[in-house]
Amino acid sequence: MKKKIFSGVQPTGNLHLGNYLGAIKNFVELNNENENDCIFCVVDLHAITVNQDPRELNNNIRGTVASFLASGIDPEKSIIFNQSQVSAHSEAAWILSCVARMGWLNRMTQFKEKAGKDKEKASIGLYSYPVLMAADILLYDSTHVPVGDDQKQHLELCRDIAQKFNNDFKIDNFFKIPEPLIQKEFSRIMSLKDGSKKMSKSEVSDLSRINLTDTKDQIINKIKKAKTDPLPMPSTIEELNKRPEAKNLICIYSSLANIKLEESIKKFSGKNFSEFKEILTDILIDKIIPISVEIRKLLDEKNYLDKILLEGSRKAENIASKKIKKIHEIVGF
Ligand code: AMP
Ligand code: TRP
Repeated sequence: MKKKIFSGVQPTGNLHLGNYLGAIKNFVELNNENENDCIFCVVDLHAITVNQDPRELNNNIRGTVASFLASGIDPEKSIIFNQSQVSAHSEAAWILSCVARMGWLNRMTQFKEKAGKDKEKASIGLYSYPVLMAADILLYDSTHVPVGDDQKQHLELCRDIAQKFNNDFKIDNFFKIPEPLIQKEFSRIMSLKDGSKKMSKSEVSDLSRINLTDTKDQIINKIKKAKTDPLPMPSTIEELNKRPEAKNLICIYSSLANIKLEESIKKFSGKNFSEFKEILTDILIDKIIPISVEIRKLLDEKNYLDKILLEGSRKAENIASKKIKKIHEIVGF
């Protein structure tokens, strides 16, 4: 069966190594398997669930497309577009918000983390964010959704919403029930400064992450300053699991080198961190600098990036408008 792949990335700043290893690297592989239909969406409607500077948002939309292309996504083989340009996303999100239950949304841990202590001041959009995400996925009859580990719960919610809609309106299989595609070993890349926090665009310190636009010197400096512990490199998985910073750095190495975690542990067992960090820096430079150079080049080609988004949104609109029309009929509009 032909897979229909859909995924989204928020245009909220520079993409980082976590986005790359947790999601985009997977997009590229799926895009290269010829039998797949792939749609990669720059989710600008999701971005405005927290305050955005309009001019920065506009630049970040192009920046996200540039990162997709520079990482190896081929616009001839996939649809790349921004969510706000296809109105069916907002429409479907409203209809699905009448299907989703408060109790389901109240369980979402990402909302709790992002809203923080002052939930009363969070936007309603931040709360209903996973319903919009379900709309994104279901409008395209997506069968597989490649995401990082942090999105697992949102995908389960999407499956629940799809099932409830199909049951409520007694139409078997109207919405396809999508499967998450989450990498087994390296689905959560952590901050370089704190192995218990995920690497994130919103973390204040830039030293906590490797951005896809970083220069060679920035990469060298960030790995040099990355937090470690005083012991030599671990020799077993059990030992590794007790040392979060060491684990994160070895996971980054393994993922970039495309080798199993066990193999990396064996390779570096008992070595000093300084020796390991040099090898890690080399592989990062090798894999990330070509992407970084290409992103910078593409950012000067605004018209080209806009053309990709325009063509992508036409293709997406063509699919989504048919699905939303059927949704209207089903609910009785
Ligand atoms: P976002 O930047 O939140 O739109 O995330 C885009 C994609 O990157 C999603 O599939 C996330 O699950 C994934 N992602 C974000 N941060 C990380 C991380 N630290 N480790 C692994 N995957 C991540
Ligand atoms: N919520 C996702 C994130 O923050 C982004 C996203 C929006 C998405 N719509 C999606 C991911 C649909 C997969 C499918 O990372």
